[in-house]
Amino acid sequence: MKPTKVILDCDPGHDDAIALLMAHKLPEVELLAVTTVCGNAPLAKTTANALRIMELIGATDVPIAAGCVSPIARPLVLGTADGPSGLDGSPYLPQPTIKPVDMHAVDFLAAVLREAEEPVVLAPTGPLTNVGMFVLKYPELLNRIEKVVLMGGACYRRDEYITPTEFNIFCDPEAAEIVLTSGMDITMVGLDVTMRVVVEEPQYEAIAGINTPLARVVEDWLKFYEKLHRGQMGIGGALHDPLVLAAVIDPEIIETREAHVEIDRTGTHTFGATVADFWGLRGLATNAKVASQVDSEKFFSMFYKSLEM
Ligand code: RIB
Ligand code: CA
Repeated sequence: MKPTKVILDCDPGHDDAIALLMAHKLPEVELLAVTTVCGNAPLAKTTANALRIMELIGATDVPIAAGCVSPIARPLVLGTADGPSGLDGSPYLPQPTIKPVDMHAVDFLAAVLREAEEPVVLAPTGPLTNVGMFVLKYPELLNRIEKVVLMGGACYRRDEYITPTEFNIFCDPEAAEIVLTSGMDITMVGLDVTMRVVVEEPQYEAIAGINTPLARVVEDWLKFYEKLHRGQMGIGGALHDPLVLAAVIDPEIIETREAHVEIDRTGTHTFGATVADFWGLRGLATNAKVASQVDSEKFFSMFYKSLEM
């Protein structure tokens, strides 16, 4: 079967880093390009991290373009799980020798899509600023995107560890609204499912049993990355962004429900929340498939496989 052509828009970020690794290593994906956005760290750091990661995994042939330096309509609020560098826990990673392309990510996205022989899957794993700006600047190219499979939102469970908001949407709610009203085929992989792919002792044992240099680096990333979760909620790090890649490779790894999703942009305690109407009560057309269930076991075996390669 032909590999799926994918463009990954990310804010590395430890879990973005693992998503990049999976996208490059797993044969079911052809990674056409990587675009970076502010989010887990300022743009300069997420871009430097993307360069370092792609060089580490041997993906130096994949072009990387830096994107938006701040959200569309509000100041940047940084993510907090990844440390000041955005990739703490791996200071030994060499500085990159590769450079980003000399084009803004939004324009580079257009160039890559124009050249692609067939529509491409867009996998955003950070705030949707680049994607939102792309929708506004290149509406004529939306048909070159087969579907958007994004990490974002929290629509079902409000368990004790799910806040009403999820960072990628909270960070740039205007961009999320633009993407959700674009008419594109959107699958939302939100906290409802990503908080079911958390790295705990059994997963650390499985990783420890993988004898590759990449598994060692990922171990170091996960040990740092879990600190926030472990401290706040007593759980390990959730592999939010890697689940997006898994859902691109095997859409059946998640179950989804159609909904009309809007972003709360006026709430005090719920600002940035994704509000999903699954029942058509508001008489509005559905605009997203919202992931509700995940086959965690299937996900982790795909994750381990990428570390073994
Ligand atoms: O809420 C989780 C998301 O925020 C992930 O994409 C993580 O990398 C951060 O960007
Ligand atoms: Ca991310």
